[in-house]
Amino acid sequence: MTSATPAILVRDLHKRYGDHEAVRGISFEVAAGEVFGLLGPNGAGKTTTVEILEGFRERSGGIVSVLGLDPQAGARDLRPRIGIVLQSCGIYRHIKVHEAVEYWAGLYPHPRDVDEVVEIVGLTEKRDALARTLSGGQARRLDLALALVGDPELIFLDEPTTGFDPAARRAAWSTVRRLQELGKTVLLTTHYLDEAQALCDRVAIVMDGRVLAEGPPATLGPAGTRYRVSWRDEAGTLQEREERDPTALLHQLTSAALARGEALTDLSVSRPSLEDVYLELTAEAPQEQRS
Ligand SMILES: Nc1ncnc2c1ncn2[C@@H]1O[C@H](COP(=O)(O)OP(=O)(O)OP(=O)(O)O)[C@@H](O)[C@H]1O
Ligand SMILES: [Mg+2]
Repeated sequence: MTSATPAILVRDLHKRYGDHEAVRGISFEVAAGEVFGLLGPNGAGKTTTVEILEGFRERSGGIVSVLGLDPQAGARDLRPRIGIVLQSCGIYRHIKVHEAVEYWAGLYPHPRDVDEVVEIVGLTEKRDALARTLSGGQARRLDLALALVGDPELIFLDEPTTGFDPAARRAAWSTVRRLQELGKTVLLTTHYLDEAQALCDRVAIVMDGRVLAEGPPATLGPAGTRYRVSWRDEAGTLQEREERDPTALLHQLTSAALARGEALTDLSVSRPSLEDVYLELTAEAPQEQRS
């Protein structure tokens, strides 16, 4: 595949469940080697979109291409080239952890080493445990192992770190970063916006089946172009202002403090987080009747 061909292309995607239209014209592209995040409230249409890309659901309209193939027609050719963490998994409950990973490895032409993958997801101590005895977060780690073991070029991760403890989440982040270093493409959905900010080259915020905004996390939406400056004033009150360009305000604050011979305490200059931008965008969007 040339780098000009997107790993994923979605054009005006529609999906109807009965008379409920869950996806209403979603478009985005993911370049090969990119980590792309789909964000949005519960019921926004993220899993529906991802499952259409994986070949598990039929679309009602629009164009979809995954690694140059239409997943609706070419699922069989696609399967060995993609890895999947479904939002809700739990197929292998009555076999051991390493057996599940070995079985899954056997479905791929060039799998990774099973023990290495079990180690990567932090389940070495549980390799001989029955899958059904794993805790929620450990079961999720097994799901991640199954997505990685085939060494696929494209990996779909639908809320992969839900239920992870903080250390496990960070470990999963470094796994995703390693995948990116290896040139893999990742489509990630998550409700953890710090996770999206840390991992994604670009994100799309989806709501009511439509894309509200798309771009690199740092530059997304109107809030992304502002700085937030906060400081403690002469009276000891904490002040906060938002500025497109904070240069003049900072000059004014620091020179006034110098003139008074005082330190400017609690000064901080920050960009709004992705979470701030997300909350602003999803609050502004007109709420539609959800069925
Ligand atoms: N099999 C189905 N039959 C009918 N409606 C469905 C089906 N699957 C999903 N839906 C509806 O489609 C909408 C989008 O669901 P989807 O699972 O894609 O949302 P999501 O963005 O992944 O949400 P979450 O963040 O909660 O995972 C929801 O209103 C949901 O109720
Ligand atoms: Mg979902």
